[in-house]
Amino acid sequence: MKILVTGGLGFIGSHTVVELQQEGFEVVIIDDCSNASENVLDGITAITGKRPQFEKLNLRVKEDVLDFFKRYPEVGGVIHFAASKAVGESVEKPLLYYENNLNSLIYLLQCLSKKDNSAFIFSSSCTVYGQADEMPITEDAPVKPAESPYGNTKQIGEEIIVDTCKVMPQVKAIALRYFNPIGAHPSAEIGELPIGVPQNLVPFITQTAAGLRDQLAVFGDDYPTPDGTCIRDYIHVVDLAKAHVVALQRILQEESEGNYEVFNIGTGKGSSVLEVIESFERVSGNSLNYKITGRRPGDVIQAYADTSKANSVLGWKAKSTLDDAMKSAWQWERKIRKQPY
Ligand code: WQD
Repeated sequence: MKILVTGGLGFIGSHTVVELQQEGFEVVIIDDCSNASENVLDGITAITGKRPQFEKLNLRVKEDVLDFFKRYPEVGGVIHFAASKAVGESVEKPLLYYENNLNSLIYLLQCLSKKDNSAFIFSSSCTVYGQADEMPITEDAPVKPAESPYGNTKQIGEEIIVDTCKVMPQVKAIALRYFNPIGAHPSAEIGELPIGVPQNLVPFITQTAAGLRDQLAVFGDDYPTPDGTCIRDYIHVVDLAKAHVVALQRILQEESEGNYEVFNIGTGKGSSVLEVIESFERVSGNSLNYKITGRRPGDVIQAYADTSKANSVLGWKAKSTLDDAMKSAWQWERKIRKQPY
């Protein structure tokens, strides 16, 4: 059986392709290269020794999606990462986000529904919880009104899958609600490649340390948390990638209960912005140039996962520490600055 990974040249997608190949799966990638470079295929191949098949396609073009599945009848599972994911941009361009993130999902599900049996892993996000009332956050926490069109596309995406699975038992799906993915493959052959000014904390830290940014702005230290800065659950991207393989195997081995399940994928531990900075300084031996500024609109105070369901049902648990992840992020940053990607 062949597994389709959409967005497989992206940050989480490329790490998941590596783990799939190392588990013996044949992989074909679809990516439109709007937010990733084809060079990532070289990085994947350098790690696994196997070059994945690659199709440069835009999943918003229905005919192209239908044609792909006609040309690849052996695809029996899809891990769907391809989506626009910049929270701020989604506020400015909502229709682009609804069109891209939802149409592509619908076309993929329409194709899978024509097969006798298929596995579908959906890239969801802890964003669906908004500011949860209780920490750690369980999968039963209420889904709150999204704070951005991006977050809304994840909520609506999950609903589309639920409604599809209700009437199409042949489609078996698992949604993984990611917390904050960080770090890079220990080989430093693949990692995070933000285009332009990084929106996320960790690439901004490593780019500041590498001299690409003057100073990190810490968005607020007046939150009701121990050190006043926001708390998140930062998970090593390789741990996150492994969770996708385990979820896929659960479906393929017909162990899933019903044909739709949801799992939080995090470490279960919350870390503040200042603790992430301290971790970076510890593993890099560099002191970071940062200043405290005002709050960023839309930030939740804290979000970290209750991962007991993934631990017990999937048999999956994050293994890497925050220091491991920050060390891998810094190693990757230094590698790409020597050989600009
Ligand atoms: C983390 C913390 C910031 C940058 C986002 C998306 C979420 C998911 C992960 C896709 C916050 C602070 C950040 C900076 C800072 N993406 N920060 N200075 O916002 O938790 O989640 O990425 O699924 O959907 O919302 O991650 O890394 O942007 O911020 O102080 O320059 O770092 O305020 O407290 P976030 P982040």
